Amino acid sequence: MSKIHKLPDHVVSRIAAGEVVVGVFSVVKELIENSLDAGATKIIVELTNGGKSEIRVSDNGEGMSEDDARVCFEPHSTSKISSFEDIYSIGTFGFRGEALHSISRVSKMKISSKIADEALGTELEVVAGRVVYKQSVQMERGTSISVRDIFFNVPARRKFLKSTSIESRMATEIFERFALSHPNISFLLQRDQSVVHNFAPSSLLDRIISIYSDFSREHLKSVEGEFKRMHLSGYISLPGRWRRRRSLALFVNNRYVTNQLLAKALYVAYSEFLHKGEHPLAVLNLAIPTEEIDVNIHPQKLEVKFSNEEKVFSFVRDSIKRALKTTFAGRLSLRSYRSDVSGSTEPHPKRVKFPSLKEASSVELFSEVVKATESFRVVGIVRDRYILVETDEQLLIVDYHAAHERLIYEKLKRSISNNTHQKRLFFNLEISLNQTDIDLLSKASVLKSLGFDWIVSEDNKVSLTSIPSFLSLEDAKSFFKESLDEVRMVDIEGLTPVYQKLLADIACKCSVRTGDRLDEDEAKTLVEKILKSGVSTCPHGRPLIYAVKYVELDRFFQR
Ligand SMILES: Nc1ncnc2c1ncn2[C@@H]1O[C@H](COP(=O)(O)OP(=O)(O)OP(=O)(O)O)[C@@H](O)[C@H]1O
Ligand SMILES: [Mg+2]
Repeated sequence: MSKIHKLPDHVVSRIAAGEVVVGVFSVVKELIENSLDAGATKIIVELTNGGKSEIRVSDNGEGMSEDDARVCFEPHSTSKISSFEDIYSIGTFGFRGEALHSISRVSKMKISSKIADEALGTELEVVAGRVVYKQSVQMERGTSISVRDIFFNVPARRKFLKSTSIESRMATEIFERFALSHPNISFLLQRDQSVVHNFAPSSLLDRIISIYSDFSREHLKSVEGEFKRMHLSGYISLPGRWRRRRSLALFVNNRYVTNQLLAKALYVAYSEFLHKGEHPLAVLNLAIPTEEIDVNIHPQKLEVKFSNEEKVFSFVRDSIKRALKTTFAGRLSLRSYRSDVSGSTEPHPKRVKFPSLKEASSVELFSEVVKATESFRVVGIVRDRYILVETDEQLLIVDYHAAHERLIYEKLKRSISNNTHQKRLFFNLEISLNQTDIDLLSKASVLKSLGFDWIVSEDNKVSLTSIPSFLSLEDAKSFFKESLDEVRMVDIEGLTPVYQKLLADIACKCSVRTGDRLDEDEAKTLVEKILKSGVSTCPHGRPLIYAVKYVELDRFFQR
């Protein structure tokens, strides 16, 4: 029996219209949503060439009958709603009957699907919206949809596809969002035939840790809140554990949304602990009666509107505040939290708490660190990677690439504020860029603030006229080209995170590499500077010192 029908015009006219397919990530999003709506418990996503050559999503859901497979890509064809009012009690991700139609118009699409009741599955290929072949196939119940050569017939839009690495990164991000909102489902992601993620059904906490491997369970706090038929649940990072980029996975009734109201409620709850450039990790789902939200305000359904915004805002903010409070019960004041460097709130008792970036700016703590490390001795260098340092009270292990990178980063920031970060070139340095990259230069002001300047000649040749003073000519050239990918991220992530990332990347380029040989004097100077500065992470946010107190060692060895 067929499940798909065409929506009547009066319903269609009330559904948010607009562009559904804007890039690889939106195809991945629509196809995964369809798999989830079909009740799949296993979803496989395969990307070739960042998805620009092929995106394939396969599932073990209920599948489509032959009749349904033949019409699923027609406009406004859906099995999910019948009347417009259904949108207000919707339990599925889809409702417009538009996704497959929009995708099939701009790609070469192959649909294979089988339901339990039919012996054979149906396979058909649709090129630019037209069926070019159809056959019956042996297959398991479920659906597999492959989308090849996206925008092959719309060159103007193909041109706006981002680089392979960016498309791939965005598609991976959206995949991870679904994996987070459905931890009970198996998800596999393969890029160019190598497995990137392979998630078996698990708890939400385990799934978060598999995705954000820089966090362990001790760094995360569960959030549970209930108020007037709203329920908030998930995990947030504990103060002191930050990310340098916005890392929010916020869901409303398990639907991934980019809602500013929820993000704001979260940041307000954290405000006491957060400093510039620091971002908490949060994976939260707000369950709310469907009649209190509108999902029909954005063609890609990435936004929702709440009927009572104030109620939702204060509920989310207060639930998070409460979760943070129970962690720091009795010692919540920021002052006491910051002035405690003994590490008693640290998740790893063996890891001595070094002052974090924000603390480094505090004069009081700064002098404490210097005092605490008045005398030290470099014991040796291991694995061309770590410096072992003996102090009176503890053994320090310093990652020397990370440490050097951090010192350069600080120097770079100083040179930018002193305006000495730019090197004017005597001879302009010509670089070859394709047209898409040249078009992008008009939006690349972030590169100018790092010291780059350029001219574009009438015949579209690009020449650098200034480069960051820290970079060699060769490095500047390659860095400029590579950073254009990051410039594309400004629209998605905002200017500040991209600026900081690029600054950190320059520091990385200029610093000693893991594996470079360091002599003892160099190691000593490096350790001295890093201890004096009081910083504890590299510019990318990775820790750079691990400390073990001798008392901890003695305890371990039962002495
Ligand atoms: N993976 C799948 N398994 C089973 N049925 C599917 C699958 N993908 C699509 N379908 C069927 O095809 C129909 C059309 O899918 P399409 O994504 O175009 O629209 P929709 O999901 O109904 O609404 P929306 O446009 O909002 O996503 C769906 O309603 C569903 O019945
Ligand atoms: Mg859909």
